[in-house]
Amino acid sequence: TSTRFYDFKVQKTRITKLCKSKDIVTINGMLPGPVVYAQEDDRVIVKVTNETPYNATIHWHGVRQMLTCWSDGPSYITQCPIQAGQTFTYEFTLVKQKGTLLWHAHVSWLRATVYGAIVIYPKTGVPYPFPYPYEEHILIFAEYWHKDVVKLERQVIASGGAPPPADAYLINGHPGPLYNCSSNDVYKIEVVPGKTYLLRLINAALNVEQFFAIAGHKLTVVEADGDYVKPFRVDQLMLAPGQTANVLVTANKAIGRYSMAVGTYMSARNVSFQKVPAVAHLQYLGATPSSLTLPAQLPRFNDNLLVKSNMAAMRSLNAPRNLPLEIDTSLFVTVGLNVQKCNSTKPKKRCQGPNNGTFAASMNNVTFVKPNISLLQAYYDKIDGHYTEDFPGVPLRKYDFVNGAPNNIPNDTQSLVGTRVFVLDYGSRVQVILQDTGTVTLENHPIHLHGYSFYVVGFGTGNYNPMTAAFNLVDPPYMNTIGVPVGGWAAIRFVADNPGVWFMHCHLDIHQSWGLDLVFIVKNGEGELETLPHPPADMPQC
Ligand code: C2O
Repeated sequence: TSTRFYDFKVQKTRITKLCKSKDIVTINGMLPGPVVYAQEDDRVIVKVTNETPYNATIHWHGVRQMLTCWSDGPSYITQCPIQAGQTFTYEFTLVKQKGTLLWHAHVSWLRATVYGAIVIYPKTGVPYPFPYPYEEHILIFAEYWHKDVVKLERQVIASGGAPPPADAYLINGHPGPLYNCSSNDVYKIEVVPGKTYLLRLINAALNVEQFFAIAGHKLTVVEADGDYVKPFRVDQLMLAPGQTANVLVTANKAIGRYSMAVGTYMSARNVSFQKVPAVAHLQYLGATPSSLTLPAQLPRFNDNLLVKSNMAAMRSLNAPRNLPLEIDTSLFVTVGLNVQKCNSTKPKKRCQGPNNGTFAASMNNVTFVKPNISLLQAYYDKIDGHYTEDFPGVPLRKYDFVNGAPNNIPNDTQSLVGTRVFVLDYGSRVQVILQDTGTVTLENHPIHLHGYSFYVVGFGTGNYNPMTAAFNLVDPPYMNTIGVPVGGWAAIRFVADNPGVWFMHCHLDIHQSWGLDLVFIVKNGEGELETLPHPPADMPQC
């Protein structure tokens, strides 16, 4: 194994998109940012220097951070932000990890422009479990706003209302020809007729789940969230923000140009989103610039059945390594949006949610509030007063289950507000049933867990019913982000073998801001390899 060094400079970079120029925050001036390349079991060291006036942190999404919780990156959970002019060095080992993952900023909405791919190759001499592709390409989906995204988050939260849709969607930083002023701002992949390509797909969007499709070409999915799956063929694939997939595509059509399109999956009602898809081109060698571009067929924006069939097709290729068959810690966690009463003296400005209230989100009716110090530091140094260890393992109230009618908002939709954590003993075998709910709308929520991948052992429609729920304990997919089906549930399992403070939250960033979050503290075990080490010396202070 080797050590890979990267130098990340958080910078302000001038960029022109859709005919408008503005400064955005980037890493090393790049959009998307630099690719972190490594091999399984490599050590990765990334020195991050913040040259902007904003607060910054970087999260290595899907990296397990075995015994390196300090390098995980979520602001106010495992670290204080890296302030203007400061440097922090992230260090971690990719223990038994391979495939495609992503990194992104984890503070405010900076992730909108601060993101990039992590590509982990198998160890030297270990082949892929599919025919070796002729070439590989990375495709990262994102959203783009003309406004300063840090200010935008502040404004949206202060207003109590819903966020505006993005001004554009991007593929590798390019919106494609369907947007104003963008006929030349198109990402292209050139392919040789007859060859097979591996596409590493990453959804880095802030607030939307996305469909991906290529005109006339099937996608063979071979990996999801950095773990091999039994190959399956689809015309269209949904990726939630934070999810990644490797797909094989064979250039077996007539020589020409084919669109690769990214457009929104929106399972919630009455939500506004950008309707123009991002488009990139798959261009066959020999195609002329005048060759017509065949448009890609995206599903209907609310095609829930397609999303469920994508999900059902995900089966782990290898037998599960550490899937708990017995459970000793069981949680039932509702995820959803609600409305809080708004007591502002400026109701017109501040109370723009439904019924003149304020949008909020909760897990088990608890709306998570980020502390103003690092929770990990508070836990480690035993500093009182920043959190309580009483996150409820079952919902506190009954009304907001799926069948609570979203169109008939109850008078009392208040959630409790607090920084409650759930404590797990080292080695606990954990099951979490995630149940979509909501007093405002039902919606597919992509729930992401830090520090672990988990087995998705089941999912279904409606309220979870232990008597009828079917579980897959044979070949469940091993993922780090799971879209809980709209109006349905998903069941995940993992062994709590990584001590630390781990964030679990909806990967739609607006929902994270609204409090659809939970923190697990996983206690130390007995041995040295079961104990969280001391914090690094350059840990930023709040
Ligand atoms: Cu990819 Cu906590 O996020």
